[in-house]
Amino acid sequence: MIELAPSLLSCDFSKLKQEIHTIEDAGCDVLHLDIMDGHFVPNITFGPVVIKGIRKLTKLPLDVHLMIEHPENWITQFASAGADWISFHPEATDDAGKVIELIKKQGKLAAIALNPDTPLEVVEPYLQELDFVLVMTVNPGFGGQSFIPEPLEKVEILSQKGVRVEVDGGIKLENVERVVKAGAQIIVSGSGIFKTEDPGATVRKFKELTTKTQRHRVHKALY
Ligand code: DX5
Ligand code: ZN
Repeated sequence: MIELAPSLLSCDFSKLKQEIHTIEDAGCDVLHLDIMDGHFVPNITFGPVVIKGIRKLTKLPLDVHLMIEHPENWITQFASAGADWISFHPEATDDAGKVIELIKKQGKLAAIALNPDTPLEVVEPYLQELDFVLVMTVNPGFGGQSFIPEPLEKVEILSQKGVRVEVDGGIKLENVERVVKAGAQIIVSGSGIFKTEDPGATVRKFKELTTKTQRHRVHKALY
């Protein structure tokens, strides 16, 4: 099954509870939570306190995407706040192996996030330990940017190796098929869901489309 992970970055935070319930009731699988520190990326979002609040609002797995310097200093706090999956950027730390170890020690799923220009070689030494790889199709920092197609090549290579891949940035109903065809297992979409007129209906359309496209992909691989 292809999992859909709406990014709350583009939701209306004045009605966070309603926004979460709308997409959860419509059948999304995961919540993608973008943590920005104003250093690693030129934007600031929210931290463990807000994750703790969100944890009380939903049973969905919380997919915490850390766009922060020195993620090693924050793994325990995010894990205790309720994160289930934790991804980080290798450029933000001197010891990616240690960050993965910390995440695993907390019993959480670990992922490395690759910027559009970060080569695959960076993640290769860690593939055994990682639960998935997050391939970015925008430069991290803001929601609502345009999709960059080149990183899909990394998605193809990783998925052919049997690696689970999450793709994040600029994904909308109009281009999700090509992302699934490249081999994505987890799809993040922020503005593509929350900036549409009816986010619940959009989630349902995403699910229909990804299920249909995946069926084609499996069929093609078998015959
Ligand atoms: C970008 C974030 C993304 C972003 C996705 O820095 O990591 O998760 O919120 O939003 P859209 O789908 O609007 O590109
Ligand atoms: Zn993200």
